[in-house]
Amino acid sequence: MERLRIAGEARLAGEVTVSGAKNSALKLMAAALLAEGRTVLREVPAILDVTYMGRLLQRMGCELDTTDGALSIDVPANIEHEADYDLVRRLRASITVLGPLVARCGRAKVALPGGDSIGSRGLDMHVTGLAKLGAEVHIEHGYVVAEAAKGLVGTTIELDFPSVGATENLLLAAALATGTTVIDNAAREPEVVDLCAMLTGMGAKIEGAGTSMLRIEGQETLSATEHVTLPDRMVAGTWLIGAALSRGDVTVHRARAEHLDIVLEKLTMAGATVTSGPDWVRLELADRPRAVEISTLPYPGFPTDLQAMMVSLAAVSEGTSMITENLFDGRFRFVQELARLGADVRADGHHAVVRGVPKLSGAPVEAPDIRAGAALVLAGLVADGETVVSGAHHLDRGYPDLDGVLTRLGAKVSREPDDLDADL
Ligand code: EPU
Repeated sequence: MERLRIAGEARLAGEVTVSGAKNSALKLMAAALLAEGRTVLREVPAILDVTYMGRLLQRMGCELDTTDGALSIDVPANIEHEADYDLVRRLRASITVLGPLVARCGRAKVALPGGDSIGSRGLDMHVTGLAKLGAEVHIEHGYVVAEAAKGLVGTTIELDFPSVGATENLLLAAALATGTTVIDNAAREPEVVDLCAMLTGMGAKIEGAGTSMLRIEGQETLSATEHVTLPDRMVAGTWLIGAALSRGDVTVHRARAEHLDIVLEKLTMAGATVTSGPDWVRLELADRPRAVEISTLPYPGFPTDLQAMMVSLAAVSEGTSMITENLFDGRFRFVQELARLGADVRADGHHAVVRGVPKLSGAPVEAPDIRAGAALVLAGLVADGETVVSGAHHLDRGYPDLDGVLTRLGAKVSREPDDLDADL
């Protein structure tokens, strides 16, 4: 266990380059299971979740190699169809192996995943979708068990909600099903589009990527491919919000402004000047930010993964902001920690009302998940005095070289062991 010690009254300024998206890379790694042979993924972020996903693939018989800055995954002809709890519990994305395993092995046994404690996070759409594709699926002893001895058969699946994970799992399963599958009300997130691009490179036939109707013509086999992971819009967004919060000036390279449309619009409304090119975004803000209203929605709506950072921004903005969370029921739990830094936040169900204060004040706080952790770090950077954020491992799950990036942007951050019992 480690904690981050952050000196307050920082102003983030400078340049940073983001690597590939966590929420893309993890699914691309699962997609590799669909084809025997060597898949090469580039721009895979150096984060803990990638390490865990790599171990999971190794358990399935894959060999992994990370020389030359790329991740090579050698997938054998016969893969192990079980994914145990000890690894799966560490990250929600491990459920993405379910679709490829049923498609390739005709059966799968995957532990119910863990991941962030940000709400109930059901799997009903993954399960009913696979059942519609012809698998027999049931939950027993903490595992999702799926069997499709005669293979999967294409069908039309209408999702109740454009779930990112369910869309991806069903897309992966459908790629090796017999016949055509239509996923209606599919997620349109750029990471889903990235997965479609990789699958197309493997020989899959997919129409409608980026729309809410995906049509997948199943193939008998797919071939291993090379793919460059999409840049991480959440990491880019975090540093841009950090620039706004600290009245700084940050240019994020390898960022795609079109994937951050609504975020940049809100930051502009908060008073920032945003400029961008094909693969960079710059944000400058000299005065105190102004309050803005945010309501999270599936893409292209405001991303839930940047909600917490916007609460931190609202905490120091001029005026009162109403923030609405529509995706995860537990995503306001962290506001208690933000309140420890002097924020005036009241959260009730899906809504948080944030009254901006002129200054936050440094304190010890605990990061409950990746994004809330990032929000607390940003708040600590602009607080008076020092802030110590426990649970640094949560941030390491999603932010490569966190300390290095913050230092390059002018912050003073150090890391130390966090022995919870040391003071008892
Ligand atoms: N849901 C169900 N049933 C299902 C599937 C989802 O009820 O079968 C619910 C969930 O409980 C949740 C909502 O639908 O309330 C959205 O879930 P979704 O499936 O869209 O999200 P996810 O695939 O579990 C991914 C990202 C999250 C990101 C969300 C929304 C990964 C590994 N995770 O989660 O990222 O917040 O999409 O964009 O891709 C993060 O990176 O910090 C993170 C949590």
